[in-house]
Formats: sequence, C-alpha cells, structure tokens
Amino acid sequence: MNRHSSGPGSCPASGFFDGAAALDACHRETLRMLEELSALVTRLEAVGADARARSMAAAIHAHFSVAVREHHEDEERHVFPQLEASGDAEARQAVALLRQDHSWLDVDWGELSPIIDAVARGQAWYESGMLREGVEIFSTLSRDHIALEEYLIYPQVLANLDAQARASMDAEMAARRLAHSMRASRRHRTG
Ligand SMILES: [Fe+2]
Ligand SMILES: [Fe+2]
Repeated sequence: MNRHSSGPGSCPASGFFDGAAALDACHRETLRMLEELSALVTRLEAVGADARARSMAAAIHAHFSVAVREHHEDEERHVFPQLEASGDAEARQAVALLRQDHSWLDVDWGELSPIIDAVARGQAWYESGMLREGVEIFSTLSRDHIALEEYLIYPQVLANLDAQARASMDAEMAARRLAHSMRASRRHRTG
C-alpha cells in the first residue's frame, strides 16, 4: 500500500497520512523557515518592508503559528509519552527538557509573532536591533531543540512504534489537522 505524506500542518489529500514523515518534514521546513526569518531581518534592515519582505513574513508567520504549534502537539501526544513511560532516566530527563523548550519557544514566538504579522500586513513598527536579537534567541533554541530530538528522541521512538501505535498516531494527527483546517476555513468565510 502506498502511504501518502501530507505537508506539516496540512490535511491529508487522501485517506492516508504518514505521521512520522510529517514530523520529519516539519523539522526540515522549520530549519528552512529559520533561514527565511534571518533573511527577512536582513532585508528589513536593507530595504524595509517591501512586497518581497511582506510575502516572506506571511509565510514565516503561517509556519510558526500553525504548523509548528501542531507539531509540538504531535510530539507531546505521540512521541514524548513513549519515553516518559520507559525506565530510561536519561531519556525521561531529555523529554522534560524538550517540554520546557516547547514552553520557551511558545513564549519567544509570542513576542516575535505580532511583529512578523505586522510586517506581513505592511505595518512595520519594529525596532531593528531588538527584532534581530529576538530572532537570534528564537533560532538558536529552535535549532538546538530539533537537534536534540533528532539525536536522542526520534530514533528511539519512531523506529520502535508497533503497527497499531503507528496507525493510531497517523489517524489522530490526520483528524486533528482536518478539524483545524475546517475551523480555519469557517473563520475565513465568516471573517
Ligand atoms: Fe519539539
Ligand atoms: Fe520537533
């Protein structure tokens, strides 16, 4: 059977959704979006919030506000509990750190998000030095977090999920994305 992988934060186009592939794809896309975020700051400093900067800001904002939020929930539901239930003290300690990272990343993005959203809407009211500093802090934590997950967590959990756990993860992730997408399109229609 061919398994269909949808992009992170998106809905499955068919009845199949590969949760493990979506988790990995979100890391790749997050690393790419961190490069875009750094390029956006450079562009804002050089030429201001022109059309290209507004379009970059819109894509960055959508990724970190929608796809990454979904990704954190995926991990907290399907990846972290597997290790917390294990007898491995080092793994449990790593998961505690990763959960703390999710909280800090939420706080850091909560500070950047209104600025990036304003740039996307052509309303630039940021202070350049503070924006660059905030982006550097957020980017460093995001990269370190992904590196720790890929080194210590994903190989242990995703490689060892049995077929039933994998199917249940795939189904829950797909259903949650579909529900969020339907809510977003209803808001868009009524907004
Ligand atoms: Fe994470
Ligand atoms: Fe992750």
